Amino acid sequence: MSQSIPFMRLDRQFEAHKDDFMAAVETVFSHGGVLQGKEVAQLEERIAGFMDLKAGAAVGSGTDALVLALTAAGIQPGDKVAVTSLSFMASASAIVLAGGVPVFVDVDERDYQARGDLLAELASSGKVRGILAVHLYGQLADLSAVREAADKSGAFLVEDCAQVLGAARDGAFPGRGARAVCVSFDPTKVIGAQGSGGMVLSDDEELIERVRRLRYHGHAGGRVYTEIGRNSQLPTVQAALLSVKLDHELEWRRRRQDIALAYTEALAGHPAIQAPRVSDGAEHIFHKYVMRVPENRDGLAAFLKERGVATSVHYSKPLPEQPCLKNACEVHGGLDTVFRLTREVLSLPIYPELTEDEVASICTALQDWRG
Ligand SMILES: Cc1ncc(COP(=O)(O)O)c(C=O)c1O
Repeated sequence: MSQSIPFMRLDRQFEAHKDDFMAAVETVFSHGGVLQGKEVAQLEERIAGFMDLKAGAAVGSGTDALVLALTAAGIQPGDKVAVTSLSFMASASAIVLAGGVPVFVDVDERDYQARGDLLAELASSGKVRGILAVHLYGQLADLSAVREAADKSGAFLVEDCAQVLGAARDGAFPGRGARAVCVSFDPTKVIGAQGSGGMVLSDDEELIERVRRLRYHGHAGGRVYTEIGRNSQLPTVQAALLSVKLDHELEWRRRRQDIALAYTEALAGHPAIQAPRVSDGAEHIFHKYVMRVPENRDGLAAFLKERGVATSVHYSKPLPEQPCLKNACEVHGGLDTVFRLTREVLSLPIYPELTEDEVASICTALQDWRG
């Protein structure tokens, strides 16, 4: 084994920014407002400004952000919600946790995103109460047809932006025409907490006020609780740490984009591996670098492991195949593409702290593999 390159290196990120992180921790611990301290409101304002949306409510995780956004968007028990069949578990479990039933659609093999025509068809037919549009791996899905269908039919649109903080398409951020947008600050994300965290954002300030009540027991002020809520707060110390990281968002995004370019150049003309495509008009932030290996994906993973390069699979099963969802969901149309992709996708390490030598050795390993 020539070199060991793990899939993530939060230790390096800490080393590089230790003084700023520790100063942020000290500030919060010194003032003592460890829940709902001023840093939480500051982060809400910063992320809302960053995404060009009016307001945000920080919560305990990206999953909670989705559940609370769906609730605030008006989901009722038993309501069907259209969603992709290729994503992290939370994109589907949030619908169930909010009382709904996921209706899965197949994906487009060009960009791995849910097929917009199928989401739009479901909204237009009135079969679903809403659409949970997931943007995968770092680039925004084309939601033009989905938005139009949702507008006409009155279906709500909520966007799962857990993997796309900083991404834009045709010059616009996500959330145009949506009831709400949800982000995750899971440690694997481009701006990650030292633990879990998430945020609901929207141009609808009343919706955000409702999420603020729901995140803390339906608290409406004083000792008055107007609806049953949960306790899902982003600790102040996490907000302060996230704010330090947000200062580096652009620099880190550019570094990931450079690394992605190096991988894609190394894969040009490769007989057995396909590089991910960047959609027209999309700024891909490369939260993940997901290749396609039509034959022998697991062989490539084993070969890279042998060369000291960790890989991961996002994702190895279509969501409707997960045991806990099998009998709690519906499927609209066939799932041929997602079944194929779950056998072919393989993700490479991609984080700003990768050194040039590490990137070069990953590129060489890719070129050395012949399938
Ligand atoms: C697409 C997607 N949705 C939702 C989530 C859930 O976020 P969290 O882990 O913060 O609950 C994640 C990741 O973790 C995700 O990747």
